[in-house]
Amino acid sequence: MGLDRKYLTWSLVYVVLGMSLGIFMAASGNHGQHITHAHILLVGFVVSFIYAVIHKLWLEGEASKLARAQLIVHQVGALMMFFGLFLLYGGLVPPEQIEMVLAPSTIIVFSAALMMIILVVRKKQGPV
Ligand code: HEM
Ligand code: HEM
Repeated sequence: MGLDRKYLTWSLVYVVLGMSLGIFMAASGNHGQHITHAHILLVGFVVSFIYAVIHKLWLEGEASKLARAQLIVHQVGALMMFFGLFLLYGGLVPPEQIEMVLAPSTIIVFSAALMMIILVVRKKQGPV
């Protein structure tokens, strides 16, 4: 499976997860997890979907080590972020403890964005 389709699959898993949490919040009347919901949908669904589109349109089947690592870095950071936010806004773990997961997760997600810039900039353009 190409990296574009892998990203697309991840993004669709996140849309289901994020919407489930949204439906749960709406049904229960408890909107306490809206930050978690927002980030599963935006960092998970939307950003993964955009990375899928970048792969499809501009990286043209690139499967270099950096490209494969970039996918793993984004997904690991995103999952750490969602898990941490869920525990935080569910009141399951105090902020000072969950910071140990949330702080690195943001740097990891950010690093994946920087790696994507490198992939796009270094891609040689074919004849126009
Ligand atoms: C089944 C679909 C969805 C349901 C039932 C749902 C439900 C909700 C609920 C109940 C809230 C909390 C509102 C509040 O108390 O402020 C919320 C917030 C939010 N939702 Fe959804 N949502 C859905 C889909 C989406 C999608 C597809 C996205 C983005 C791609 C999205 C993005 C957001 C954002 C960014 C917020 C935070 C808004 C804010 O509080 O500033 N939602 N949603
Ligand atoms: C490293 C990545 C990110 C970090 C560290 C981060 C951090 C934060 C923080 C601290 C808040 C405020 C939470 C609060 O009100 O208590 C927030 C809110 C929000 N972020 Fe992010 N964010 C990140 C990525 C993104 C991305 C990529 C998007 C959109 C594509 C996004 C969209 C939003 C939105 C819409 C809100 C408002 C949600 C609400 O009020 O319910 N964030 N973010």
